[in-house]
Amino acid sequence: MRLSRRRFLTGSAVAALAVAAGKKLPLKNKHSALVSGNPLLIPSEISGGNLTIATATAQIFSGSNTNILSINGSYPAPTIRIKKSQTFSAHILNNLADDLVLHWHGQHVPAVMDGHPKYAIKSGQSADITFPVINRAGTYFYHSHTDMMTAEQVYRGLAGMFIVDDDEDGALPLPRGMFDVPLVLSDKRFDTNKQIVYSPTMTDLMNGYVGETILVNGTSDPFLSVASTLYRFRILNASNARIYQIALSDNSSFMIIGSDGGLLETPLSATSCFLSPAERVDVLIDFSKYQTGSSLTLKSLPFSVDVTPYTPLPQGAAFDILRFDINATGNSHSQIPAALSSIIKYSRADAVNTLQFVLGTDGMNHTINSLKFQMDRIDNTIPFNTLEVWTFDNTQTTNIHPMHVHGTQFQVASRSFGDLLSSDSGWKDTVMVRGGEAMDVLVKFADYEGIYLVHCHNLEHEDHGMMSNFLVSKTNSVDQDSSTLAELSVSPNPANDHANIRIPKADSSRTVTITDIHGKKIKQFSVAGDVLSVNVSVRSFPSGEYFIRVDGETVTMQVIH
Ligand code: C2O
Ligand code: CU
Ligand code: CU
Repeated sequence: MRLSRRRFLTGSAVAALAVAAGKKLPLKNKHSALVSGNPLLIPSEISGGNLTIATATAQIFSGSNTNILSINGSYPAPTIRIKKSQTFSAHILNNLADDLVLHWHGQHVPAVMDGHPKYAIKSGQSADITFPVINRAGTYFYHSHTDMMTAEQVYRGLAGMFIVDDDEDGALPLPRGMFDVPLVLSDKRFDTNKQIVYSPTMTDLMNGYVGETILVNGTSDPFLSVASTLYRFRILNASNARIYQIALSDNSSFMIIGSDGGLLETPLSATSCFLSPAERVDVLIDFSKYQTGSSLTLKSLPFSVDVTPYTPLPQGAAFDILRFDINATGNSHSQIPAALSSIIKYSRADAVNTLQFVLGTDGMNHTINSLKFQMDRIDNTIPFNTLEVWTFDNTQTTNIHPMHVHGTQFQVASRSFGDLLSSDSGWKDTVMVRGGEAMDVLVKFADYEGIYLVHCHNLEHEDHGMMSNFLVSKTNSVDQDSSTLAELSVSPNPANDHANIRIPKADSSRTVTITDIHGKKIKQFSVAGDVLSVNVSVRSFPSGEYFIRVDGETVTMQVIH
């Protein structure tokens, strides 16, 4: 654990050191009252580099060492934080006894870097991951995606936040620094020795594994000392199966400013928001209206779900998540912007195909279109850069299925139950599909070709079959034979030997420039106006990212040898 990289929002340096050393002393606040609970831990931030995965211990409860799976020895896992258009590079060393693969949830990543379980890293082996960060600013997620072991590895600690910053977000008067707080939610079962218990019964495998101890950033019974000012909270549901309906204890409203794929167009005022596993929501909470010395609690409201209740804390039960003590000083010098960003709205009328994903069970397994996941079976071929309607049809089951798509962000079109949820706005990669409900989302893959996954993010469901491979391909894509190709593109991507660059038609000749990520010119040539595609040998290009520019357009190409 690197102490210098840990950031504590609360308490004195002495208390912070005591916590880091495992002695979670009750903190005294400014009014000298003894405060119950543990100060919220804030994960360290890294931008990539070495990610060593190994067993470790953490002091989740004072006086006890709990065995966990760690990334660089730390619990909670570090937050990856990087700016858009930088290159993310990580050297992942698997020091576990089992296979491991990490997935960059929500990021648009070449298929071979996306953490598909077929790219598992064997025990003792390592892998290098590199991709250009092309996503807009937002709160993303990274976690284990190991075949049939995702649930257990995530549960034991292999899950963290992946924050992307960009100039658009940076230009807004939003809370920054210590007023921009990550909240990674998870729920666990512990035995009497304070060890994490992961031993799902048949019922747990059917319903999803929920626990009675709620952790925020790996902190049990957490509190955060806040100042009477505006804060930004990036909330990630990193639980295996627990669904939260977040709200404030006084039922006051908060502002939703972002969802899975970054900022909304305008802030959305809400008094509650569902968050199913893997969903994220960015909210602004204004503490200036509260009395210094008072407390407010982030809680989960009750909701009904038709599954066998887990007795200590059933799915859908109410509970507290995090206590805010309004007793710190400081001012975030921020405000709630009237406008946040602009989002080009997909229109259902533009969709070319419709795909159905019927969610079901077959005794022990969870299925999509009656099939259970198979590593090498491709269930659908999706034309590149083509808008489709995907229907998640959950009319056959009574459980909630949070459905997730790799490789892109989509938009919610409709729900058979009627109104959209407050978590449905903006760009999404995971949506909560309730029992008996069917919902339509508008999906397009415009970044990379290759094999990606769609699956339920209830991790017991995912591990037990509710996952499907699809291939994004330019072959058969609507653009393929069109003489009025509208966008610059390259395939295959990643390329190994040759890359076919497709260029929009023009009246005059155009210059094609290929640069590496440092802006160094690798190749330049011109093509006549009627030339629509050029084959370029990339054999001599070192592995890495390249930018192909024609006129004002740029595409990113990955070369892997
Ligand atoms: Cu967050 Cu395929 O997963
Ligand atoms: Cu994902
Ligand atoms: Cu499910």
